[in-house]
Amino acid sequence: MDRPVPNPKLTATLEQGLTHCIESTDFDLGALNKSTKQSGKVRDSYLLNDRERLLVTTDRISAFDRVLGTLPYKGQVLNQLSAWWFEHTKGIVPNHLIQVIDPNITLAHNCTPLPAEFVVRAYLTGVTDTSIWKHYERGARSFCGHTLPDGMRKNQPLAKPILTPSTKAGSTQEDGGGHDKSVSREEVLAQGLITPEDFDQAADYALKLFHAGQQWCVRQGLILVDTKYEFGKTPDGRIVVIDEIHTPDSSRYWFSNSYESQLAQGAEPESFDKEHVRKWLAGQGFTGDGPIPTIPDHVRTEASTRYIKACETIQGTPFIPNTDEPQARMQQALASLTVD
Ligand SMILES: Nc1ncnc2c1ncn2[C@@H]1O[C@H](COP(=O)(O)OP(=O)(O)OP(=O)(O)O)[C@@H](O)[C@H]1O
Ligand SMILES: [Mg+2]
Repeated sequence: MDRPVPNPKLTATLEQGLTHCIESTDFDLGALNKSTKQSGKVRDSYLLNDRERLLVTTDRISAFDRVLGTLPYKGQVLNQLSAWWFEHTKGIVPNHLIQVIDPNITLAHNCTPLPAEFVVRAYLTGVTDTSIWKHYERGARSFCGHTLPDGMRKNQPLAKPILTPSTKAGSTQEDGGGHDKSVSREEVLAQGLITPEDFDQAADYALKLFHAGQQWCVRQGLILVDTKYEFGKTPDGRIVVIDEIHTPDSSRYWFSNSYESQLAQGAEPESFDKEHVRKWLAGQGFTGDGPIPTIPDHVRTEASTRYIKACETIQGTPFIPNTDEPQARMQQALASLTVD
């Protein structure tokens, strides 16, 4: 996207926020915590009992499958935006949300995640070597079991949104280096890790969520280009959507008003995503391996501004950063939880 219009008040808030970003958490939940903390690249999670889990969305930013640093209020943006989408789509697809107990913390139904990511794509795009566009550019006309017509150009819409599941490849260089691998329904089922019934239920939910997301985005002047869903099974055996939905971390968004003209000029659509930080890193010669350069504060606040702009454009309401010292605030929110 274009450089966001500078807002001096927001910039000052973000600059102050640089010093108290949530990089990690280490809560003492006493009798409440049933396991050790689990840390993903962005979220820390704590199992409270067999049915409930706390998900703390930190301010960590990841790209190239690595944690690169922190951005002020990124965690609040993602946690609140996900909760907003969960609320807006709960009539269509059940989700894991029980309650948002702090701007950065969600109390969720504890689920067993299905071992595949449910990616839905509506456009022929992507930048990485494994993207649908790079496959197409190399001449492939089949992707995850879907046939693609000849003569398509980069960033054009597909005939209809398609499901392109992805599974974690192995941990060595030869078998994928632990990166995600796009596969067909049949390949997922052949691994024997998901039953056909569970897969088809999750696939149906993924396409329904995507359709709902697209419809909402049209009203907001946005295109929901592609996204990644995770599903889990509740203790009583229901499939629900977990983790996060339709956030700038899990989804690609383009601006509708400039899409056609950009495409006509052969230019990339305007978007808000992690490209800003990624481009800065690439400019430093970093493309995923070796030591991570320290990201300067102005790049961090600019990236935060983009996350906030994304949230505000999607929801259509202003984002209000919570400027309380976050560790004390979160600890206080947790104190209100009781053992059952
Ligand atoms: N309701 C839930 N029940 C159980 N696990 C969940 C639930 N919601 C999310 N998770 C898991 O919590 C983790 C969230 O962490 P995060 O989003 O940082 O992970 P990631 O970096 O995207 O992936 P990874 O965990 O592979 O590093 C994910 O592993 C996700 O599967
Ligand atoms: Mg995740």
